[in-house]
Amino acid sequence: MSGFFITFEGGEGTGKSTQIAALAESLRQAGHDVVTTREPGGSPRAEEIRGFLLAGKAKTHGAFAESLLFAAARIDHLRVLIEPALKRGAIVLCDRFADSTRVYQGAASGLDTGLIQALERVTLAGRNPDLTLILDCPVEKSLSRARARAGESGQDRFETETQAFHQHIRDGFLALATEEPDRCVVIDADRPAHDIAKDVLDIVHLRLASVRGAAKKELP
Ligand code: TYD
Repeated sequence: MSGFFITFEGGEGTGKSTQIAALAESLRQAGHDVVTTREPGGSPRAEEIRGFLLAGKAKTHGAFAESLLFAAARIDHLRVLIEPALKRGAIVLCDRFADSTRVYQGAASGLDTGLIQALERVTLAGRNPDLTLILDCPVEKSLSRARARAGESGQDRFETETQAFHQHIRDGFLALATEEPDRCVVIDADRPAHDIAKDVLDIVHLRLASVRGAAKKELP
């Protein structure tokens, strides 16, 4: 059986990691092989690039250079972790993926859409997520959560951006969901975590049942 690739997207502090942990636990209890991972990072070499990017060391090189670094990390992550896990039939839950490049470097930082598409074609080589869950929350709320979590000194490269930047991020993810409604589902993240987790699990069960049901029908 081939695996299932789920990505979580959204702005800072929208609760992706909490939701990934809850979903992973529910799926494991139901007997699934589950791999959780994140971007940038997820493999030793990609984690090195993560350190460089989130420390802001590539910022002065501009959005294109940053995109190339996110892409380099993604290529290694796919090769070392994601593809092998999907091949053995696992469900992969990934905290951010290529949509973050579209939105952070594209919609919010102004990098040309054609460039991002070209880079995505080369980087993903056809491996798109089967399902993308976009956690959506008003910017003031999610940012204050992210900032409280980081503490003033611990803010990373993107957490220190302006409120307007983060509004572009939110709008960018909502626009993406409209462009790709079959792949993307927007989830209202301005609610208690366990209510969000219930919706996430329902959506994932429905999708898994429909793909795995379809796969069974195709068997001779
Ligand atoms: P992280 O601490 O993982 O943030 P969060 O908890 O909000 O997911 O940091 C990842 C940061 O990198 C986040 O600010 C989004 C940014 N990013 C991009 O700008 N482009 C990308 O392609 C990816 C994967 C992340």
